[in-house]
This record gives sequence, C-alpha cells and structure tokens, in this order.
Amino acid sequence: MKNILVTGGCGFIGSNFIRTILQERDDIHIINLDKLTYAGNPANLREFEFDPYYTFVKGDICNAELVDFIFYHYKIKYVINFAAESHVDRSILGSQIFYQTNVLGTNVLLEAARRYEVEKFLQVSTDEVYGSLGETGLFTEQTPLSPNSPYSSSKAGADLMALAFYHTYGLPVVITRCSNNYGPYQFPEKLIPLMTINALNNKKLPVYGDGLNVRDWIYVIDHNKAIELVFEKGKVGEVYNIGASQEMKNIDIVKLILKYLGKDESLIEYVKDRPGHDRRYAIDSTKIQTELGWKPQYKFEDAIKETIQWYINNKTWWQNIINGDYLKYYEEQYGQK
Ligand code: NAD
Ligand code: TYD
Repeated sequence: MKNILVTGGCGFIGSNFIRTILQERDDIHIINLDKLTYAGNPANLREFEFDPYYTFVKGDICNAELVDFIFYHYKIKYVINFAAESHVDRSILGSQIFYQTNVLGTNVLLEAARRYEVEKFLQVSTDEVYGSLGETGLFTEQTPLSPNSPYSSSKAGADLMALAFYHTYGLPVVITRCSNNYGPYQFPEKLIPLMTINALNNKKLPVYGDGLNVRDWIYVIDHNKAIELVFEKGKVGEVYNIGASQEMKNIDIVKLILKYLGKDESLIEYVKDRPGHDRRYAIDSTKIQTELGWKPQYKFEDAIKETIQWYINNKTWWQNIINGDYLKYYEEQYGQK
C-alpha cells in the first residue's frame, strides 16, 4: 500500500484524480491536504467520506508544521502537488496569494519531501509557463519559460524550484505541463463552465477581446491518466508536456455551448480584453506519447457535450457556488452582476 499525499484534492482536477484512483486502484491510500479556499469543495468527494483508502486533512500547504506532521504521521513517500491558486483573472486582481501558495507553499512541500526522503514528487505545472505562441508552432519541453501573468509566473517559479531540488539535492521530482482542462466539477469562473452556466441562466456571455485567442483543450480524465502514468513511470528530473492537440478559438467554444443548449448567439457580449492576454497555447505531447505510451482517450466533440450535460444535470452543485463571494468576484471582474 502506497501512502500518497495529494494536495489541492478538493479542486477541479484533484478531485477528479482522487475519484479515478479510488475507483480503480486498491494499492493506494490518499491523504488529501486541502485548504478549502473558494475553489475547494468537499462536496466534490462526498461519496468517499468514509472510504478507508481516503483521508482528508483541511489545511494549508504553506503551514510547515502541519505539513511536517503529515509526512511524519502518514509516512509519506509520494507527493502529487495540485494545490494552487489557479485563475488568471484573479491573479490580475490580486497577485500576492498566488506567490504565497504557488511558490512558497510548493517550497514547504519540497523541503518536507527532502527531509522525509520521498521516492517521487510530482509537481503539476501548466503550459502557461511557456508564455504565448503566434499563429504557428507548438510548446515542447525545450521551449524556454516565458510566463506573462502573475498566475503563470508563480507556476513557473514552483516548476523551476522543483527542478532545482532535483539538481541540487537529488530529490526525485517529475513535472507535468498540461494544457487547458475541461470536465465535471470545474469551478464556474473558468471559460467553459462560466459560459454554460450563464447561458443556462440567460445571462450575457462575456467574451474577452476579439474572441480569437486559442486554447488547446484536454478532458480532465485524460490529463489525470497522464499524471498517474508520469507518477508511476516518469523519469526523475524530467518534464512531460500533456495535451490532446485540440486547439479551439474561444468564440467557437462559446458558439458550440450556445448551440448545444439551443440558445441564441445574441447572448454573446464582447467585453474589455484581459490585460496581457496570451494569444495562443498549443502543446506538443510527443515525449509522453513515445516514451511512456500515453494517448488521449476522449474525443473533444463527445467529451465537451458530456461536460455541458454534466452542468445541466448538476445544477445544485453550481447553484451552491454562484452566490455570496462568487457574486462579489463576478461584479469586480465583469462590472456587472
Ligand atoms: P482549482 O482552483 O479548481 O483547485 C485548487 C485546489 O487547491 C482547491 O481545492 C483549493 O482549496 C486548493 N488550495 C488552494 N490553495 C491551497 C493551499 N494554500 N493549501 C492547500 N490547498 C490549497 O484548480 P485546478 O483547475 O483543479 O488546478 C489544479 C492544478 O492543476 C493547479 O496546480 C493548476 O495550476 C494546474 N493546472 C490546471 C489546469 C486547468 O486547466 N485547470 C491546466 C494545467 C495545470
Ligand atoms: P480560462 O478558463 O480563464 O483559462 P486560461 O486563461 O487559464 O487559459 O480562459 C480560457 C480562455 O477564455 C482565455 O483565452 C480567456 C477567455 N475567457 C473569456 O473570453 N471570457 C471569460 O469570461 C473567461 C473566464 C475566459
């Protein structure tokens, strides 16, 4: 039995990861350390509350004493660090918590991992560390890091710090850099759930700038399968790009959502662009495909429909979120309720 410390497991990607592992594996005990920020939702994993292979600890990865206790008490030898402040727009409104959690929090985990001689530390990074692409080209693992937002710069800091711990101390670190995820349980501030929920509520769909920015989309389960594989088989000190080669213009995604929901395109509203908005992301995932044998299993055309349908079927989940603090954020970000 492996005791794995998973951080940020109550968020979008982490909760999907834990669900898959608990459903498919019987050789892993997960200790989920999550601060339950606005983005952390215990309801995402309610069904596992009494699962003997799952332990939840509410706490902050920046809390060195608590982190030390967890490594000691649960004899942690494996770590997967999902915990982060994850939303670019929020990082533009206020950057400090991004550097605190994403950089200093990762440092606390790496230091503990070093003290307790962990056997694998997987840092969940992002393709946003590479910056922005023009019309052509793809991010490879050799692309120089050139982050543009407070969010991506904090993730680049954590990513490089993890690699430095490998080079300096021989800590067995692996890094994954994945493109934009979509799927169930994604917090409503992100493009796909935001547009879906607004459309369901007949609210305006705020498209930034000209709507022609491109993101490379991957279904969350495909991302998590890649993480599991890199965790098991990835070579220490290495970086693995993860992506499903599914580039889409924002406006095309928004139109697709409206079409699926049978809503009119007049709901689209072009709004002021995001400052420093990266134009295009696109991932070359040749390395993980050829070296580790990973391949995305989900087709965008099907998985995006399943995702939209999930938000239709799980109204209570998001209705419990889009009130109070979320509405305050929405007003600050979009200047409207
Ligand atoms: P999310 O915002 O949905 O979840 C983040 C989770 O981390 C929440 O449960 C939150 O409570 C927890 N958390 C935040 N600060 C914490 C702290 N100080 N201590 C403990 N827990 C804390 O994010 P997500 O979309 O699930 O992203 C997970 C990871 O994947 C992040 O590291 C993100 O940078 C990375 N990533 C995300 C995407 C994407 O498309 N969403 C793509 C590539 C990489
Ligand atoms: P987002 O989901 O915030 O992911 P990221 O910025 O990390 O890629 O945004 C995806 C794209 O959608 C990005 O180009 C910004 C755009 N976008 C909008 O046009 N309107 C919105 O309200 C949001 C949240 C995003």
